[in-house]
Amino acid sequence: RVFCHASDASRAIAGQIAALIRGRAGEGRTCVLGLATGSTPTGVYDELVRMHREEGLSFQNVVTFNLDEYFPIRPEELQSYVRFMREHLFDHVDIKPENAHVPDGTVSGESVADYCRRYEEMIEDAGGIDLQLLGIGRTGHIGFNEPGSGRSSRTRLITLDRVTRRDAASDFFGEENVPARAITMGVGTILAARQLVLMAWGEGKASIIAQAVEGEISTHVAASFLQEHPNAQIVMDEAAAEHL
Ligand code: GLP
Repeated sequence: RVFCHASDASRAIAGQIAALIRGRAGEGRTCVLGLATGSTPTGVYDELVRMHREEGLSFQNVVTFNLDEYFPIRPEELQSYVRFMREHLFDHVDIKPENAHVPDGTVSGESVADYCRRYEEMIEDAGGIDLQLLGIGRTGHIGFNEPGSGRSSRTRLITLDRVTRRDAASDFFGEENVPARAITMGVGTILAARQLVLMAWGEGKASIIAQAVEGEISTHVAASFLQEHPNAQIVMDEAAAEHL
C-alpha cells in the first residue's frame, strides 16, 4: 500500500494494531506483537499512545517481543532499544512490564546462544507473534539480519554490516562507537509471525524497497523473503515507492 505521507500510513497501521488488540481482548485472549525500532515506526507508536490516552486503548492483554538489540549494551544507554521502546511506547501505555520483551544486550550468567534459544522459547510460549512490525535497513536487513542471513535463521548474535554501522554512527557519536554486533530475531523467526507489516518512508529507502519487493528472493536482501509470506504487507510513502 502506498500513502501520500508517512503520517497517514502510520495512523492506518496503528488503527490496524488497535483493532487486533481490541479483538483479542474481546475474546479474553492476549495479543502478541513483534516490535521494531529506528525512526520508521515512531509515528505508529505515537498514534498508539494517543489512542491509549484519548480512546482508552488498553495494553493489558498485549505481549511484545522486539526484533533486536545492540550487543553489548546496557539498557539505560542512550542508544539501547530498551530505552527507545520505553521512551516511545512502554512508559506511556498500560502494558505489564513483564510482558514487554527486548533482547538482552547484557546477557551474563548464560551463553548468548542459550539466551537466544530462550528468547525463541518465550515467543513460542506466548503463542507466536500475531503481527510483526518491520523497518528496513539500507542493506535490506529486517531486524539486524544482514546480507548472508538464511531463510531459516533464528534468534542469534550477528556481526553488523559496515553500512549499518555507518548509518548508526550519528546515534553513537561516531562509527567507532557503534557496537560490532547485535542480537536479532532470525529471518525464520520473523517469517513465523502470522502477519508482517514492513514500513518504509522516504527516497532513501526506494532502491532497497525495489530490490526487496521485485528483486530475486535471496540471502543478499533479507527483506526479499517477505515475498514468500502469505500475509505480508509493505506500507510505503510515495517517495519510498518511487522505484517500483
Ligand atoms: C536499524 C534497526 C532496524 C531498522 C533500521 C532502519 O538497523 N535494527 O530494525 O529497520 O535500523 O532504521 P530507520 O527506521 O531509522 O530507517
